[in-house]
Amino acid sequence: MIKLSDVSVVYRKGEENEKCALKNATLQISQGDFVIIVGPNGAGKSTLMKVLLCELAPTVGTYYLNGKSMRGFSVTQVARWVGRVFQDPNSGIFPDLSILENLSIASKKGVRWLRFRSCPQKAVSLLSLLGLGLEKNLNTRAGDLSGGQKQALAMIMAIISDPKVLLLDEHTASLDPKSSVKVMELTRQINEQFGITVVMITHNMPFAEQYGNRKWKIEEGEVYEYEYRPPVCLTRSENPFPLVGDQRRCAPKCV
Ligand SMILES: Nc1ncnc2c1ncn2[C@@H]1O[C@H](COP(=O)(O)OP(=O)(O)OP(=O)(O)O)[C@@H](O)[C@H]1O
Ligand SMILES: [Mg+2]
Repeated sequence: MIKLSDVSVVYRKGEENEKCALKNATLQISQGDFVIIVGPNGAGKSTLMKVLLCELAPTVGTYYLNGKSMRGFSVTQVARWVGRVFQDPNSGIFPDLSILENLSIASKKGVRWLRFRSCPQKAVSLLSLLGLGLEKNLNTRAGDLSGGQKQALAMIMAIISDPKVLLLDEHTASLDPKSSVKVMELTRQINEQFGITVVMITHNMPFAEQYGNRKWKIEEGEVYEYEYRPPVCLTRSENPFPLVGDQRRCAPKCV
Protein backbone atom coordinates (compact mmCIF):
# COMPACT_ATOMS: atom_id res chain seq x y z
CA MET A 1 0.00 0.00 0.00
CA ILE A 2 2.78 2.44 0.99
CA LYS A 3 6.22 1.88 -0.41
CA LEU A 4 9.34 4.00 -0.12
CA SER A 5 12.09 3.08 -2.48
CA ASP A 6 15.54 4.33 -1.48
CA VAL A 7 14.17 7.66 -0.23
CA SER A 8 16.51 10.34 1.13
CA VAL A 9 15.60 13.84 2.24
CA VAL A 10 18.27 16.52 2.34
CA TYR A 11 17.42 19.93 3.78
CA ARG A 12 19.35 23.01 2.54
CA LYS A 13 21.01 20.90 -0.14
CA GLY A 14 24.28 22.32 -1.40
CA GLU A 15 24.53 24.79 1.45
CA GLU A 16 27.21 24.69 4.11
CA ASN A 17 24.75 23.47 6.75
CA GLU A 18 22.95 20.87 4.59
CA LYS A 19 21.25 18.14 6.60
CA CYS A 20 20.40 14.63 5.44
CA ALA A 21 17.33 13.93 7.62
CA LEU A 22 16.28 10.64 6.00
CA LYS A 23 18.81 8.21 4.55
CA ASN A 24 18.01 5.65 1.86
CA ALA A 25 14.73 4.59 3.43
CA THR A 26 13.32 1.49 1.72
CA LEU A 27 10.17 0.28 3.40
CA GLN A 28 6.69 -1.06 2.87
CA ILE A 29 3.49 -0.66 4.86
CA SER A 30 0.54 -3.00 4.21
CA GLN A 31 -3.15 -2.30 4.62
CA GLY A 32 -4.17 -2.83 8.26
CA ASP A 33 -0.68 -2.29 9.68
CA PHE A 34 -0.29 -0.21 12.85
CA VAL A 35 3.28 1.10 12.72
CA ILE A 36 4.84 2.70 15.80
CA ILE A 37 7.88 4.93 15.20
CA VAL A 38 10.24 5.90 18.00
CA GLY A 39 13.59 7.67 18.04
CA PRO A 40 15.41 10.61 19.58
CA ASN A 41 14.73 14.29 18.83
CA GLY A 42 15.98 15.30 15.41
CA ALA A 43 16.18 11.68 14.18
CA GLY A 44 14.00 12.26 11.10
CA LYS A 45 10.61 10.94 12.27
CA SER A 46 8.54 14.00 11.30
CA THR A 47 10.51 14.25 8.06
CA LEU A 48 9.29 10.76 7.15
CA MET A 49 5.70 11.84 7.96
CA LYS A 50 6.09 14.91 5.76
CA VAL A 51 7.12 12.69 2.87
CA LEU A 52 4.06 10.46 3.41
CA LEU A 53 1.85 13.57 3.44
CA CYS A 54 3.50 14.96 0.28
CA GLU A 55 4.54 18.03 2.28
CA LEU A 56 8.09 17.22 1.24
CA ALA A 57 9.22 15.54 -1.96
CA PRO A 58 12.09 13.08 -1.52
CA THR A 59 15.42 14.56 -2.60
CA VAL A 60 16.21 11.11 -3.98
CA GLY A 61 14.03 8.01 -4.37
CA THR A 62 10.31 7.44 -4.83
CA TYR A 63 7.24 7.33 -2.60
CA TYR A 64 4.49 5.03 -3.91
CA LEU A 65 0.92 4.95 -2.60
CA ASN A 66 -1.22 2.10 -3.91
CA GLY A 67 1.43 1.43 -6.52
CA LYS A 68 1.43 4.99 -7.86
CA SER A 69 4.37 7.38 -7.60
CA MET A 70 3.41 10.43 -5.54
CA ARG A 71 6.03 12.67 -7.12
CA GLY A 72 4.36 15.92 -8.05
CA PHE A 73 1.31 15.26 -5.82
CA SER A 74 0.25 18.01 -3.42
CA VAL A 75 -0.83 17.74 0.23
CA THR A 76 -4.41 18.46 -0.86
CA GLN A 77 -4.39 15.71 -3.47
CA VAL A 78 -2.99 13.09 -1.12
CA ALA A 79 -5.41 14.12 1.69
CA ARG A 80 -8.02 11.98 -0.05
CA TRP A 81 -6.13 8.87 1.07
CA VAL A 82 -4.06 10.08 4.00
CA GLY A 83 -5.45 11.62 7.22
CA ARG A 84 -3.32 13.28 9.86
CA VAL A 85 -3.37 14.36 13.48
CA PHE A 86 -0.44 16.15 15.05
CA GLN A 87 0.69 17.15 18.54
CA ASP A 88 -1.15 20.45 19.01
CA PRO A 89 -4.83 19.78 19.87
CA ASN A 90 -5.78 23.10 18.22
CA SER A 91 -4.13 22.27 14.89
CA GLY A 92 -6.54 19.48 13.91
CA ILE A 93 -9.78 21.40 14.46
CA PHE A 94 -11.39 24.75 13.71
CA PRO A 95 -11.67 26.15 17.26
CA ASP A 96 -14.20 28.88 16.42
CA LEU A 97 -16.64 26.48 14.77
CA SER A 98 -19.03 24.03 16.44
CA ILE A 99 -18.37 20.29 16.63
CA LEU A 100 -20.97 19.73 13.90
CA GLU A 101 -19.45 22.38 11.61
CA ASN A 102 -16.01 20.83 12.13
CA LEU A 103 -17.32 17.40 11.14
CA SER A 104 -19.16 18.76 8.12
CA ILE A 105 -16.03 20.48 6.81
CA ALA A 106 -13.92 17.35 7.42
CA SER A 107 -16.40 15.13 5.60
CA LYS A 108 -16.15 17.26 2.46
CA LYS A 109 -12.39 16.75 2.17
CA GLY A 110 -11.70 15.28 -1.25
CA VAL A 111 -15.21 13.84 -1.41
CA ARG A 112 -17.92 14.63 -3.92
CA TRP A 113 -20.97 16.53 -2.68
CA LEU A 114 -23.27 13.49 -2.89
CA ARG A 115 -21.48 11.76 -0.03
CA PHE A 116 -21.73 14.94 2.04
CA ARG A 117 -25.40 14.11 2.65
CA SER A 118 -24.45 11.01 4.62
CA CYS A 119 -21.96 12.88 6.79
CA PRO A 120 -23.91 13.93 9.89
CA GLN A 121 -25.26 10.45 10.68
CA LYS A 122 -21.91 8.80 10.16
CA ALA A 123 -20.20 11.55 12.16
CA VAL A 124 -22.57 11.16 15.05
CA SER A 125 -22.19 7.38 15.12
CA LEU A 126 -18.41 7.75 15.12
CA LEU A 127 -18.53 10.39 17.82
CA SER A 128 -20.71 8.24 20.05
CA LEU A 129 -18.01 5.52 19.95
CA LEU A 130 -15.75 7.83 21.92
CA GLY A 131 -17.94 7.63 24.99
CA LEU A 132 -17.26 11.31 25.69
CA GLY A 133 -20.83 12.50 25.11
CA LEU A 134 -19.73 14.85 22.30
CA GLU A 135 -22.54 13.60 20.08
CA LYS A 136 -25.04 15.19 22.49
CA ASN A 137 -23.29 18.58 22.31
CA LEU A 138 -22.87 19.07 18.58
CA ASN A 139 -23.33 22.84 18.84
CA THR A 140 -20.51 23.24 21.38
CA ARG A 141 -17.63 25.40 20.15
CA ALA A 142 -14.71 23.04 19.40
CA GLY A 143 -12.26 25.52 20.99
CA ASP A 144 -14.05 25.02 24.33
CA LEU A 145 -13.31 21.26 24.44
CA SER A 146 -10.50 19.79 26.56
CA GLY A 147 -7.22 18.81 24.89
CA GLY A 148 -8.18 15.11 24.86
CA GLN A 149 -11.64 15.86 23.47
CA LYS A 150 -10.09 18.07 20.75
CA GLN A 151 -7.67 15.29 19.73
CA ALA A 152 -10.50 12.74 19.69
CA LEU A 153 -12.56 15.09 17.51
CA ALA A 154 -9.52 15.70 15.27
CA MET A 155 -9.14 11.94 14.81
CA ILE A 156 -12.78 11.48 13.89
CA MET A 157 -12.40 14.39 11.45
CA ALA A 158 -9.29 12.75 10.00
CA ILE A 159 -11.05 9.44 9.33
CA ILE A 160 -14.50 10.65 8.33
CA SER A 161 -13.65 10.92 4.65
CA ASP A 162 -12.52 7.28 4.75
CA PRO A 163 -8.75 7.62 4.27
CA LYS A 164 -6.61 4.53 3.80
CA VAL A 165 -3.93 5.74 6.21
CA LEU A 166 -3.91 7.81 9.37
CA LEU A 167 -0.62 9.54 10.27
CA LEU A 168 -0.15 10.53 13.90
CA ASP A 169 2.83 12.68 14.94
CA GLU A 170 3.01 12.64 18.76
CA HIS A 171 -0.76 13.06 18.94
CA THR A 172 -0.89 12.23 22.68
CA ALA A 173 2.14 14.32 23.68
CA SER A 174 0.23 17.27 25.11
CA LEU A 175 -2.45 15.23 26.88
CA ASP A 176 -2.67 14.10 30.52
CA PRO A 177 -2.19 10.34 31.17
CA LYS A 178 -5.92 9.54 31.30
CA SER A 179 -6.76 11.43 28.10
CA SER A 180 -3.71 9.89 26.39
CA VAL A 181 -4.99 6.39 27.13
CA LYS A 182 -8.48 7.27 25.80
CA VAL A 183 -6.99 8.67 22.61
CA MET A 184 -4.75 5.59 22.24
CA GLU A 185 -7.75 3.29 22.63
CA LEU A 186 -9.53 5.28 19.93
CA THR A 187 -6.40 4.88 17.78
CA ARG A 188 -6.47 1.13 18.30
CA GLN A 189 -10.18 1.02 17.45
CA ILE A 190 -9.65 3.01 14.25
CA ASN A 191 -7.03 0.48 13.19
CA GLU A 192 -8.65 -2.76 14.33
CA GLN A 193 -12.32 -2.08 13.73
CA PHE A 194 -12.17 0.12 10.65
CA GLY A 195 -9.07 -1.42 9.09
CA ILE A 196 -7.41 1.98 8.64
CA THR A 197 -3.64 1.71 8.44
CA VAL A 198 -2.00 3.75 11.23
CA VAL A 199 1.51 5.21 11.34
CA MET A 200 2.23 6.79 14.71
CA ILE A 201 5.25 8.63 16.10
CA THR A 202 5.63 8.64 19.87
CA HIS A 203 8.13 9.32 22.63
CA ASN A 204 5.90 7.39 25.05
CA MET A 205 7.68 4.04 25.44
CA PRO A 206 4.86 2.23 27.31
CA PHE A 207 2.54 3.11 24.39
CA ALA A 208 5.23 1.99 21.93
CA GLU A 209 5.32 -1.39 23.68
CA GLN A 210 1.58 -1.80 24.13
CA TYR A 211 0.24 -0.74 20.72
CA GLY A 212 1.01 -1.51 17.11
CA ASN A 213 2.01 -4.63 15.19
CA ARG A 214 5.16 -3.12 13.72
CA LYS A 215 7.79 -1.14 15.64
CA TRP A 216 10.35 1.06 13.91
CA LYS A 217 13.22 3.07 15.26
CA ILE A 218 14.71 6.03 13.41
CA GLU A 219 18.21 7.12 14.35
CA GLU A 220 20.14 9.79 12.47
CA GLY A 221 17.83 9.39 9.49
CA GLU A 222 18.05 5.60 9.30
CA VAL A 223 14.91 3.47 9.75
CA TYR A 224 15.08 0.04 11.45
CA GLU A 225 12.24 -2.37 12.13
CA TYR A 226 12.73 -3.99 15.55
CA GLU A 227 9.44 -5.86 15.95
CA TYR A 228 6.92 -7.35 13.54
CA ARG A 229 3.61 -9.15 14.10
CA PRO A 230 0.77 -9.67 11.63
CA PRO A 231 -1.85 -6.90 11.87
CA VAL A 232 -4.90 -7.39 14.06
CA CYS A 233 -8.10 -7.12 12.09
CA LEU A 234 -11.71 -8.19 12.27
CA THR A 235 -13.98 -9.27 9.51
CA ARG A 236 -17.01 -7.07 8.96
CA SER A 237 -19.38 -9.60 10.58
CA GLU A 238 -17.31 -9.44 13.76
CA ASN A 239 -17.28 -5.65 13.76
CA PRO A 240 -19.15 -4.46 16.86
CA PHE A 241 -19.23 -0.88 15.55
CA PRO A 242 -20.73 -0.98 12.06
CA LEU A 243 -20.63 2.43 10.40
CA VAL A 244 -23.96 3.94 9.52
CA GLY A 245 -24.43 5.01 5.91
CA ASP A 246 -21.10 4.87 4.19
CA GLN A 247 -19.91 1.38 5.15
CA ARG A 248 -16.30 0.53 4.45
CA ARG A 249 -16.28 -1.25 1.14
CA CYS A 250 -13.91 -4.04 2.08
CA ALA A 251 -12.68 -5.65 5.23
CA PRO A 252 -8.95 -5.21 5.95
CA LYS A 253 -6.78 -7.93 4.54
CA CYS A 254 -4.86 -10.02 7.03
CA VAL A 255 -1.42 -11.35 6.18
N1 LIG B 1 12.69 22.62 7.32
C1 LIG B 1 13.88 22.21 7.74
N2 LIG B 1 15.02 22.81 7.32
C2 LIG B 1 16.22 22.39 7.73
N3 LIG B 1 16.42 21.37 8.59
C3 LIG B 1 15.35 20.74 9.06
C4 LIG B 1 14.02 21.14 8.67
N4 LIG B 1 13.14 20.32 9.29
C5 LIG B 1 13.86 19.46 10.03
N5 LIG B 1 15.18 19.72 9.90
C6 LIG B 1 16.28 18.98 10.54
O1 LIG B 1 16.16 17.62 10.14
C7 LIG B 1 16.42 16.75 11.24
C8 LIG B 1 15.23 15.83 11.46
O2 LIG B 1 14.13 16.62 11.88
P1 LIG B 1 12.71 15.97 12.25
O3 LIG B 1 11.78 17.09 12.52
O4 LIG B 1 12.36 15.02 11.20
O5 LIG B 1 13.08 15.19 13.59
P2 LIG B 1 12.13 14.35 14.59
O6 LIG B 1 12.68 12.97 14.65
O7 LIG B 1 10.72 14.52 14.20
O8 LIG B 1 12.43 15.06 15.99
P3 LIG B 1 11.44 15.36 17.23
O9 LIG B 1 11.38 14.10 18.04
O10 LIG B 1 12.17 16.44 17.97
O11 LIG B 1 10.13 15.82 16.71
C9 LIG B 1 16.75 17.64 12.42
O12 LIG B 1 18.15 17.76 12.54
C10 LIG B 1 16.14 18.97 12.05
O13 LIG B 1 16.86 20.04 12.62
MG1 LIG C 1 9.05 15.43 15.08
